[in-house]
Amino acid sequence: MKPNFKHIVLMTVCMAELYAQSLQDNNTSLKAKIELGRRLFYDADLSINGTMSCATCHEQKNAFSDGNQVHPGALGDPGIRNVPSLSNVGKFKNLTWAHNTLSGLAEQSLTPIRGTKPIEMGMHGYEEEIPKRLSQNACYQKLFALAFPEQNGTISLDTVTLALESFERILISDNSTYDKSKKENKPLPSKEALEGETLFFGTAQCSTCHSTPLFSDDVFHQVQPLNKTAATLLTDYGLSDVTGKSSDKNIFRTPSLRNAALTSPYWHDGSAPTLKNAILKHNLATIKTLSSKDIDKINAFIHTLSDYSFTTNPKFSKPDKDCTY
Ligand code: HEC
Ligand code: HEC
Repeated sequence: MKPNFKHIVLMTVCMAELYAQSLQDNNTSLKAKIELGRRLFYDADLSINGTMSCATCHEQKNAFSDGNQVHPGALGDPGIRNVPSLSNVGKFKNLTWAHNTLSGLAEQSLTPIRGTKPIEMGMHGYEEEIPKRLSQNACYQKLFALAFPEQNGTISLDTVTLALESFERILISDNSTYDKSKKENKPLPSKEALEGETLFFGTAQCSTCHSTPLFSDDVFHQVQPLNKTAATLLTDYGLSDVTGKSSDKNIFRTPSLRNAALTSPYWHDGSAPTLKNAILKHNLATIKTLSSKDIDKINAFIHTLSDYSFTTNPKFSKPDKDCTY
C-alpha cells in the first residue's frame, strides 16, 4: 500500500506523541535525579561513621563553602585545602583548586566519598556499604526507581554519583546585585562599587582571569607569592601534583568570585582571612600598584556578586525527613 496523505499525517502525529512522551519521561527522571541528588548531598550515610555529608563542608548559607580554613574528615584527618563554593559548579570544565583530568561532577564526587589524600567521608574500601545502606530506605527505593528507570532503579555508587551531579548542576547563581543591575541596564547602586567595577575590568586587570560570567576563566595561573613558607611548599604544589610537570608547580585554577564575600577564608589553603588579604596576596605587578582605597572599591564591587536568592533558595536546602516527593 502506498502511504497516502492521511497515513503521513497519522504517522507524524504518532511520532510527535512518542517524542513528547519521551521528553516527558526524561523530564520526570531528571526531576527525580535532582531531588535524589539533593537528598544524597545532605545524607551522612555517605560517610563511614554517619557523621558527615557533602553539606557538612558545603553549606548553603556560605554559598556551599564552610567558613573554615580547612575542614577535617569524618575520621579526623586534617583537611588540606579550603572548601570552595559550589556556585555555578556545573559550568566548570576544570574542577577543584587544581585538577585538569576529572571527567565531571559525578567522578569528582568520588574524591570526598572514598579519597584518601586526605580522608574526607572515609568510604575507601567500604564503597558497597553505600548501596547497602540506601537500599534499606523506602524513599530512596522510590527515588532511584523514578530517577533511573533505564537501569531499573539500581542503587549503586554509579547512580549515586550521577544523581549528585544532577543536583549540583542546578546550583546556579545569577541573581546578585551585579546581575540585576546588568539585566535592568542600571549602574551598580553604590559609588564605591561602581568605581570598583571600573578598576576590576580596567587598570586592575582582575577580569583577565576572573572573567565574566563565572568571574573565573576556568584555567590555571601562577599567582603565588614568591616568599611562600616552606610548610606550604611541602604540602601542596597545585597542578603539578596531578600532571607531574615541574612547569605546573604552584599553579591553581582561578576561583570564581561569585558569592566570594560569603566564602571567607580564601585561597586554596585558606590562608587569606579576608577578601582584602586575598587580593593583596597575588604576586602580580598590577595589584601592587593599587592603593588601599582602590582595594576597598574592588572589595565593594565583589560584594555586589553576592546572591542571597542562591543562599536561601529552598530548592537547594536540606530536604524534609519524610519523603514527600
Ligand atoms: C571534608 C569536607 C568535604 C566534604 C565532606 C565534601 N567536600 Fe567537596 N570539597 C572539599 C574541598 C576541600 C574541596 C577542594 C578540593 C581540592 O581542590 O582538591 C572540594 C571540592 C569540591 C568540588 C569542586 C568545586 C569546584 O569549584 O571545582 C565539588 C563539585 C565538590 N567538592 C562536591 C562535593 C560533594 C558532591 C560531596 C559529597 C559527596 C563533597 N563535595 C563532600 C571539601 C569537602
Ligand atoms: C593571572 C590571573 C589572575 C588575576 C589577574 C587575578 N587573579 Fe585573583 N586569583 C587567581 C588565582 C589563580 C587565584 C587562586 C590562588 C590560590 O588559591 O592559590 C586567585 C584568587 C583570588 C581570590 C580568592 C578567592 C577564593 O575563593 O579563595 C580573590 C578574592 C581574588 N583572586 C580577587 C582578585 C582581584 C580582585 C583581582 C584584581 C585586582 C585578581 N584577583 C586578579 C588568578 C588571578
